[in-house]
Amino acid sequence: MKQSDQQTVLMRQPQILCVDSDAADLALLEAVFAPRGYGIIQSATGKQALEILTRQPIDLILLDTVLPGIDGFTVCARIRAVERFREIPIIMMSALRSREDLLRGLETGADHYLFKPLDHDEMIAHVKLLIGRKKRRETFDDICRDMNILTLLGQETLGAAGSSRFDFQLHFEKILRLLLRKTSDILEKPRTVIAGLPAESEAGQWHHYEYAFQEFSRVKLAYNPLAGFVLPEQGRQKIFVLHETATDSETKTILQNFRARNVPVENGICYLSHDLCLMALNYGQDIGAGHLNFFRQLTLLSHLFHALSGKQDAAKAFDYGIYALARAAEAADDDGGSHIHRVGEYCGIIAERLGMKEEFIQTISLQAILHDIGKLYTPREILRKTEPLTAQENIEARKHTLWGAKIIGGHAYLRIAQMIALNHHERWDGTGYPRGLKGDAIPVEARIAAFADQYDTLRMARPGKPQIDHATVTKILNQGDDRVKPQHFDPLVLKAFRETAFLFEEVYQRRKG
Ligand SMILES: [Fe+2]
Ligand SMILES: [Fe+2]
Repeated sequence: MKQSDQQTVLMRQPQILCVDSDAADLALLEAVFAPRGYGIIQSATGKQALEILTRQPIDLILLDTVLPGIDGFTVCARIRAVERFREIPIIMMSALRSREDLLRGLETGADHYLFKPLDHDEMIAHVKLLIGRKKRRETFDDICRDMNILTLLGQETLGAAGSSRFDFQLHFEKILRLLLRKTSDILEKPRTVIAGLPAESEAGQWHHYEYAFQEFSRVKLAYNPLAGFVLPEQGRQKIFVLHETATDSETKTILQNFRARNVPVENGICYLSHDLCLMALNYGQDIGAGHLNFFRQLTLLSHLFHALSGKQDAAKAFDYGIYALARAAEAADDDGGSHIHRVGEYCGIIAERLGMKEEFIQTISLQAILHDIGKLYTPREILRKTEPLTAQENIEARKHTLWGAKIIGGHAYLRIAQMIALNHHERWDGTGYPRGLKGDAIPVEARIAAFADQYDTLRMARPGKPQIDHATVTKILNQGDDRVKPQHFDPLVLKAFRETAFLFEEVYQRRKG
C-alpha cells in the first residue's frame, strides 16, 4: 500500500450529525452520505443531538426544524451559544418553506437552509463546501497557534542573547518537536524533517528527525541528500516545494537521492541557503501558503539559533530575530505581509530626508517592520471584523501597542523597535494612544513610523475598504478628512513626506500584494 493510502485510511472520517424525527429521512441521509466517506450519527430529537455534541467531535450538523420537544431553531440557537460549537457548520432542512422560516433559520445561526423534499446534489455540494472550509480554518488555526509558540521561543531566545554559550542543537530540536507530526492524523504537519549545515558538513552531519511511536527521534544520515546539487552562494537562499511530479532539475536531483535510499517522498518543502538546509517531508495534505509561512518562520529561527551559537556575529542574529518575529505578525494579519515591509521602507525615506545618521536610517528601516507585532495577541475576530468595533473591542485592539513593546522586550539593540511598537498610534496633537503623548514627548522614531503606517493604511485595500491612489492619499494627509488630520503628524515629518512623496508611490507599486 502506498503511504498516501495508509494516510487516507488513518484519517478521521468527517462526522455528520443528522437530526430528524423521521426514521425514513434519517435512513435516506445515511444512504446518501455513508458511501461518500462520511460518518453518520443519527439523532431523533434536539435534546439527544445536544448531548451527542458534548461527547464526540462533529464536523457538520444536518438539522430538521420540526422536532419533538425542542424545535430545530432553538437547537441551533443553543449550539451557537456555546463557544466551542460556534464553528460547526449547520444546515437546516425543513418542510417549512416560507421566507420567514428561512430567515429565522439563518438568524439563529444556520449556514444554510434547504427546503424539503431535499435536492440531494445541492445538499451534497453544501456539505462538501462547509466541511472543507471548516478543515481549512482548523488547519490555519493550528498553524497560527504553533506560530505563536515559535514567536515566544524566538522572543525568549533574543532575550537570552549575548548571555552565555548558546546550544544550537537543543533549541533547534525544541522547534522541530513543534513542527513534526506526532500521530498520523495531524495532517497539516510533515512526518519527517531532514536538516544539515551543508557548508560545514560532510555526509555524516545530516540528521533525520521524526516521531517514532510518539517518541522524538534523531538519526544521523549515512548519505548526503544534496549530493550532485550546487549550493546557493553566500547570502542567497531559496525555498521550494518538492513534489513527485515536479520537472525542475533541482527537485528531481533531491528526489532521486532519496529514492536511491528508499526514502519515500510524496511532497515537501525544501529550504536551502549557503549554510543551512531544511527539508520538511511528507505532509499529510497538499502544501499551502500556511505551511510555507510556518516553514519560513522555522528557517528564520534556525538561522537565529545558528547565529547565536557563536558562529556569526550578534547583530546578524538580531536581524534574523526581527525577521522571524515580523513573519509571525504577517501570519496573524490578513494583508499578506507587504504592509509591514513597505512601512519599513517609508521610514527609511523619511529618516534620510530628516538628515538622520546612516545607522539610524538602517535600524529604523528594519525595526519598524515590528510595529504591529503586538497584534499577535489581539483576538482574530477583532482583527478581521469589518464593521466598526464596539467600545470594548476597541480597548482590546489598542492594546496591541502595549503587547508589542512587551514581545520585543527591553534589549538595547531593539530599542527603536520597542519605541515604535509602543508609540506608533500616538499623535502629535495628543489625541492618540496608548498614553496620549503630545509633540516632542513622542519619540522621533515613532513619529516617523506613525506617518508611514498611516500613509500605507490609507492606500491599501482592507476588508470593507477599497485601495486609494497616491494622489488622493497625499491630499488626505495634507488637508485631512473625517478620520485623519494633518495635525496628527509631526510637521517636520509631514514636510519630509511632501518632498519625497514620489518615492512612497514607487515603494508601494514595487511592494504591493
Ligand atoms: Fe498598529
Ligand atoms: Fe501597520
